[in-house]
Amino acid sequence: MLVSTARLHSVLKTAVDGIIVIDDSGTVLVFNDACVHLFGYERDEVIGKNVSILMSEDDAKSHDAHIKRYLDTGEKRIIGQGREVSGCHKDGSPIPIELSVGEADTSEGHQFIGIIRDLRARKAFEQRVRDLQSNLVVMTRVNALDEMGAAIAHEINQPLTAVMLYLQTAARRMKTLEEQDPQLLSIMTRAVDEADRASKIIQRMRSFVEKQEPQKVGVNLASLIDECVELVMLGHKNDNINVISNFSDHDYNLTVDAIQVQQILVNLIRNACEAIKDCKKQEVYVDVDIAATDVFIKVTDTGPGLCEEVREQLFKAFTGTKRRGLGVGLAISRSIAQNHGGDLFVEPYVKGKGATFVLRLPLGLDGADGQSNLASASMI
Ligand SMILES: Nc1ncnc2c1ncn2[C@@H]1O[C@H](COP(=O)(O)OP(=O)(O)OP(=O)(O)O)[C@@H](O)[C@H]1O
Ligand SMILES: [Mg+2]
Repeated sequence: MLVSTARLHSVLKTAVDGIIVIDDSGTVLVFNDACVHLFGYERDEVIGKNVSILMSEDDAKSHDAHIKRYLDTGEKRIIGQGREVSGCHKDGSPIPIELSVGEADTSEGHQFIGIIRDLRARKAFEQRVRDLQSNLVVMTRVNALDEMGAAIAHEINQPLTAVMLYLQTAARRMKTLEEQDPQLLSIMTRAVDEADRASKIIQRMRSFVEKQEPQKVGVNLASLIDECVELVMLGHKNDNINVISNFSDHDYNLTVDAIQVQQILVNLIRNACEAIKDCKKQEVYVDVDIAATDVFIKVTDTGPGLCEEVREQLFKAFTGTKRRGLGVGLAISRSIAQNHGGDLFVEPYVKGKGATFVLRLPLGLDGADGQSNLASASMI
């Protein structure tokens, strides 16, 4: 008898799985070393207590009733088979476990024996596989986008170059005509500028994918903002939306990659306009704060603001809530801002207020220097 107790002891001590024995009233009789390790309780903190201290609050409430129902009816729900359940660590954190329960009639009465397998490592592994799979999906989409982007850039550049050449030829011929129409000439020049701009945007998009350094030039900040507002408003001509730029210092210049910064602002203003579409007050404000080392460009709207769920995902690619739109605007915008040594963030949510996005750009040595850069209103 002594030998068998010693053997039982060594089994309990060395078992990798947790072993718990309880009686009909749920009182713990045996709590082995693996359980001590798993649940964080010392043996004497559990022995003699109700097993429900090892369960979540909800399971704990109904456990005694489950035992009673089984003893009354003999109907087995968990006994004889394994099941994944959630245990509760001493610190209150949930532990995923696989529990299999057997029963035995002993000289000390009827007992239930629970074998407990720790599922934390397996769950963490499964989660990691799920994360990797979803990353893979995103990466595949990003790759497809890269490839599509390169193909589109290639396909569009050729007709665009042709359009520019035709326009330039037409403008030259117009200049040689006896009866000149200065208005027509200026329209042609603007059309050439726009085609040139489109081609530069494509080049920059490609260089952005290739992670090149931003190409900084001196630009006039007020003109840059005005152009962005104009561009966005082209898509909202028939709406009641009012976009107000509060920065009118046309002497203030900034040294940035104008097209990239424009990409950020256009995305922020577009997002703001889309957010206020169904609101009573449909206004978007663009404000500028110039501090000692940085310039802060703020885009505020009168929309519903950003709920916590959206805020967490905001800067991750492909997580937008719109039916149309890839959900990449803010992710790209933030990396452009960070490529400039700046940042893009959203101000804390205030109930009843819309969203405020803040673009910070540093005024480094090669950054903005206020007055001395030559203004370049055309931005290219
Ligand atoms: N001003 C805002 N107010 C409320 N929600 C916003 C605002 N700006 C962005 N969001 C939310 O953040 C999400 C992500 O914006 P993001 O610009 O990255 O992508 P998108 O606008 O959905 O698509 P894309 O810019 O790629 O066309 C949006 O789908 C929207 O849910
Ligand atoms: Mg967007």
